[in-house]
Amino acid sequence: LMFQLTATPASALADEPVHIRVTGLPPFQMVTFKASLKDEKGNLFHSKAFYRANETGKVDLEQDPAFGGDYVGVHPMGLFWSLKPERAFQRLLKQDVMASPFLVTLDLYDSVCFQDLATAQPTASQTLQRWFSGPGMQRMQIREGRVRGALFLPPGEGPFPGVIDLFGGIGGLVEFRASLLSAHGFAVLALAYFAYEDLPKQLQEVELEYFEEAVNLLLAHPKIQKSGIGVISVCKGAEIGLAMACYLKQVVATVCINGFNAIFTVPLRYKDLVVKPIHSFKEHIQIHVSGAVRICHCMEDPRDELNRQSVLPVEKAQGRILFIVGENDECLNSRVYAEQAVDQLQSHGKSSGRMLMYPGAGHLIEPPYAPLCYASWSPGFSRPILWGGDPAAHAAAQEHAWEEIQKFFRQYLSPTRSKL
Ligand SMILES: *[C@@H]1O[C@H](CO)[C@@H](O)[C@H](O)[C@H]1NC(C)=O
Repeated sequence: LMFQLTATPASALADEPVHIRVTGLPPFQMVTFKASLKDEKGNLFHSKAFYRANETGKVDLEQDPAFGGDYVGVHPMGLFWSLKPERAFQRLLKQDVMASPFLVTLDLYDSVCFQDLATAQPTASQTLQRWFSGPGMQRMQIREGRVRGALFLPPGEGPFPGVIDLFGGIGGLVEFRASLLSAHGFAVLALAYFAYEDLPKQLQEVELEYFEEAVNLLLAHPKIQKSGIGVISVCKGAEIGLAMACYLKQVVATVCINGFNAIFTVPLRYKDLVVKPIHSFKEHIQIHVSGAVRICHCMEDPRDELNRQSVLPVEKAQGRILFIVGENDECLNSRVYAEQAVDQLQSHGKSSGRMLMYPGAGHLIEPPYAPLCYASWSPGFSRPILWGGDPAAHAAAQEHAWEEIQKFFRQYLSPTRSKL
């Protein structure tokens, strides 16, 4: 018997689909697919799924359903988005985005393997390279003025549409989304704002001038378009992203993924303006059965009269805003916040805000095929934080949202965009 396992392309960007198929199996043979990956810290992630060959001895993950394992049904990329950490509460994050890809090993077993696969011998294997940067891309470490980050440039002279990428409470410099977006033709600055190099160790306040400096740095770059800057942001980063949209006229297209519509926890400062934060209450923490904590009930409602002064004036935003909401976000009441922001825009007669809601998606909506991280350790917390999300629905949201984000930036960052 000659099994033939094919997975193509063998080397691709991490957000590109892979076509997996097997031929040469006995008719109706049950098989197990296993995927495994080791991150740069040595943490192991794996997934498996059971399939049955048809009468011609073939399995094609684009057409055939999994009967069991980490997912069921037709999910061509299920083995990727259902990767789970061997040690609980680890989050898969690519660190060095330029020099190496993630290596995903696919193993095929000619039976249904429920037990530990470590000792079983696969009948076929293939290793796939999943890259977070494209050929010819450039990464430039940024240490200019106060700005700390990494700028990714596509190959060629440009000018390219410029985007700033902001993560949240994780701190430090997170590059994988910026580099992947840059691989699609954008100049993207992954911007650190605390817990990195000489930046403050903890976020004591959000000083908007720091972010304005980063915007102006991009606008002065010869390979970046002058017509305005985009922002892609998540969680606390999306609160800052929304503040940038409100107060910085150079920011013309902002993507806020599961963020806030008001200033929370630490004050926002911009020139003479100081916006006081809405406080949170630790005693409202809920402990989930997994041992992780649900913090979404700790934050007061920005609609309360006392909190009005902390709500961001979205109606002042000159540009477009795309709110991306996972309806199973267990970390923030992001749907309430986004709805409130869009309502506030509409009550001022503005249609510049749009909301994409994803049923079943959790807090950490990332580029496609990134495995769902349901809960993980986060700096400053003594327990893991619950992020939420149903794996299949979350994966579908990531695929859809990533396309929409790119369309949004292409439409509103192009120099010929309508000024009306
Ligand atoms: C068997 O599966 C292959 C791959 O999915 C498909 O192309 C073929 O049409 C199937 N054959 C039958 C008889 O269903």
